[in-house]
Amino acid sequence: MTAIRVLPELLISQIAAGEVVERPASVLKELLENSLDAGARAIQVTLDEGGLRRVQVEDDGAGLERDELALALARHATSKIASLDDLQGVATMGFRGEALASIASVSRLTLTSRTNDAGHAWTVRAEGSQQGAAEPAARAAGTTVLVEDLYFNTPARRKFMRTGQTEFGHCEEVLRRIALARPEIAFSLKHNGRVSLHLAKHSGAERAAALLGTEFTAASSPVEARAGSLRLHGLAGTPQSARPRADAQYLYVNGRFVRDRTLSHAVREAYRDTLHGERQPAYLLALELDPRAVDVNVHPAKTEVRFRDSGSVHQFVMHALKRVLSPTAAEAPVSYVRVAAAPGGGQPGLQLAQPAAAYQRFMAAAARADNAAPLPQAENAPPLGYALAQLHGVYILAQNEAGLVLVDMHAAHERIVYERLKTGIDAGRVEQQQLLVPAAFRAEALEVALAEENSETLGRLGFEVAAAGPNELAVRAAPALLAGGDIVGLTRGVLKDLREYGATEVLKARQNELLATMACHAAVRANRALTVTEMNALLREMEATERAGSCNHGRPTWYQLTMADLDKLFLRGQ
Ligand SMILES: Nc1ncnc2c1ncn2[C@@H]1O[C@H](COP(=O)(O)OP(=O)(O)OP(=O)(O)O)[C@@H](O)[C@H]1O
Ligand SMILES: [Mg+2]
Repeated sequence: MTAIRVLPELLISQIAAGEVVERPASVLKELLENSLDAGARAIQVTLDEGGLRRVQVEDDGAGLERDELALALARHATSKIASLDDLQGVATMGFRGEALASIASVSRLTLTSRTNDAGHAWTVRAEGSQQGAAEPAARAAGTTVLVEDLYFNTPARRKFMRTGQTEFGHCEEVLRRIALARPEIAFSLKHNGRVSLHLAKHSGAERAAALLGTEFTAASSPVEARAGSLRLHGLAGTPQSARPRADAQYLYVNGRFVRDRTLSHAVREAYRDTLHGERQPAYLLALELDPRAVDVNVHPAKTEVRFRDSGSVHQFVMHALKRVLSPTAAEAPVSYVRVAAAPGGGQPGLQLAQPAAAYQRFMAAAARADNAAPLPQAENAPPLGYALAQLHGVYILAQNEAGLVLVDMHAAHERIVYERLKTGIDAGRVEQQQLLVPAAFRAEALEVALAEENSETLGRLGFEVAAAGPNELAVRAAPALLAGGDIVGLTRGVLKDLREYGATEVLKARQNELLATMACHAAVRANRALTVTEMNALLREMEATERAGSCNHGRPTWYQLTMADLDKLFLRGQ
């Protein structure tokens, strides 16, 4: 065996570089974070060949003194922490004092800097283990770090690099993550001599729109919640705007982009009930907390964190987000004042200049046909208002103070049934109704066996299914909510789920999918005529149901057209 020996400095740095400097984008991340820590207000990034030839970051931050330059490039040299205590409460992006040394060990690095009160700038050059002396240079206050020919001296690593275009894509993503967290800083990005991004100093929403698109900002709700020293803020994409790919999910902890299971799990939970399984929500969420309550010294690249109390962080984030995503319809962000009843109980507030006689006759006939219809007498109109009519058997039209409410009847009913079933299962049992005539159907022997083995689970779901022969099943009782629907289709659907996933899975992990299948079977189908009373009942139930704003496939269940929206449509008052 060879004798143990201490490794040379350069090799130590190169080993360290393996962890931090994975690719040009990681160089860019380290340099950008240094500029943030230096208090920069504007940062210019210049890349050539995706950063493989050149990564350059210029800032207008605090800068370095002449004799600090060499130290900045030395390993374990940092201005950011001095003790274990500092480390435990670290508020800067960097603290390891290793990034520049690591980068310098695998590239040709030039560091040029000038503090505010220095007469001129100073520059040093480092190449592998060679470091030159500081020389005078010209530059305004701030720092420029130029990194050329990454991995020129470690060809094995160089081989792992992809094309310039791919590396550029990674660099862009790094810049995007940082720029989203720091809208108050201006950024520009040049690639191969061309300006590819220019971001002025922004507000948070402007920055999000500039980087993630106005489609995202338009279809998202602001998040702002606090509890003790925890704060969550940002933008949560609506369930309706979820997309097939998870390409717009940004989570930050104290300004740092992170990948953290606690956080992403909390977010997923918050979206779970309103999102169809395969859809991915878009979000930009920042958690701020006491730096002492989170350890960022987990991995050299600092994208992982450890929370001291991950349980409370999880609870806080999940609930804060749920409140934003699933307000009950009664809390929906529409302003409702009062709908005054029109004299005679007719159409309140309808102020058409020329009410057509035919229309009035039509309304009168509708009212006669449905004597039970409660006329809008209430001083305070309910949030979703009163039903006016049904459109093509699909939509309910209702009037509230704000204007017109359009309800997708099937989606709304589905959501109500879903929530009720869920409450039933959570309470241990879904309310059951005996069928006057059992619904019998032909089944495979396997299905018959399955029904018998799972009678307990089926019971919890509100079913009583028994064998009526070797190839026949009979449903004797069904969930009360669903008893009027397609019992056979419903039972088959449930058996299919049981067969594919097993009872435990169906009741736990797949519970939402199962409930969705059940609710969908039960919900009023489009094209069923509802009386005004039934429509009003549906509206009241929606107000009382959690998450009534979207059905369980993430489609919206109702939509508000305000008087102002309608006026705009008819160019009134313009
Ligand atoms: N753009 C900059 N402006 C001013 N000072 C800088 C800049 N970049 C680096 N420095 C100085 O150089 C030091 C070393 O930087 P380096 O990135 O190697 O370590 P760090 O940021 O302290 O820790 P980490 O390794 O976690 O990034 C910093 O502590 C800082 O004092
Ligand atoms: Mg650093």
